[in-house]
Amino acid sequence: MHITLLNYDSIDSTNTEALRQARLGAEEGLCILSREQTEGRGRYGRTWVSERDAGLYFSIVLRPKIQAHDLPLITLMAGVAVHYTLKSFGIEPDIKWVNDVLVNEKKIAGILAETTETDRGLAVIVGIGINLTSTNFSPDLAMTATCLEDVLPTKPRRDDLIEVLTRNLEISYDQLQGEGGPAEIIENWTQRSSYSSGKSVRVVLENETVAGVTDGLEENGALRIKRGNGNILVIQAGDVEQVRAAV
Ligand code: BTN
Repeated sequence: MHITLLNYDSIDSTNTEALRQARLGAEEGLCILSREQTEGRGRYGRTWVSERDAGLYFSIVLRPKIQAHDLPLITLMAGVAVHYTLKSFGIEPDIKWVNDVLVNEKKIAGILAETTETDRGLAVIVGIGINLTSTNFSPDLAMTATCLEDVLPTKPRRDDLIEVLTRNLEISYDQLQGEGGPAEIIENWTQRSSYSSGKSVRVVLENETVAGVTDGLEENGALRIKRGNGNILVIQAGDVEQVRAAV
């Protein structure tokens, strides 16, 4: 994959721009970056607050040659790449299923993968937001979010962060597409996530909330939850929250 960086000063959303470029025929490896986003998007249609230079706002166009049932693993491979990236700057991150990267239990990065049909076949856009400074955190957000400035003595240079991130994305993506890749990504992800098994969680689904203990991932990346009655529930999508013992 050949990495090409396209830098913007301001844009609606780097994911939206990457989707537009993919539909126009962009090559795999095109990366859209912007200093700010006016309509930054999170999962489930949430807003991703994206003030100027307060975060890294990054999206990459991929044209994966993997089986359709392995597509959800793209999100996990991106989580692994972000985890490696932060770790190489001296941070000890965690990954909360499916794709929240945490430091000290607070979210430092989010990933939004979206697909689109194009004349050249299916394209997957992987959008990554990494919090750099906390200037744009509302009081609510400050309880649950953190940023590089708060967890490192010196904030990494933006260009260094981009270089390491793109390199790690290339490595993880190659791994996913290689022989035995899906199982390797699951293994890598599992090693990097304290949420993969034995964690008491509550999962917020569309119509209900279920509680249980995490019990590993399925081959396609879905999360297994062991209920109190011993039944295993397989979660394809939803928000996972850690359940803390009452004190
Ligand atoms: C989430 O955790 O809900 C996912 C957040 C993803 C945010 C990034 S920032 C770059 C890219 N452009 C967007 O509009 N969203 C993603």
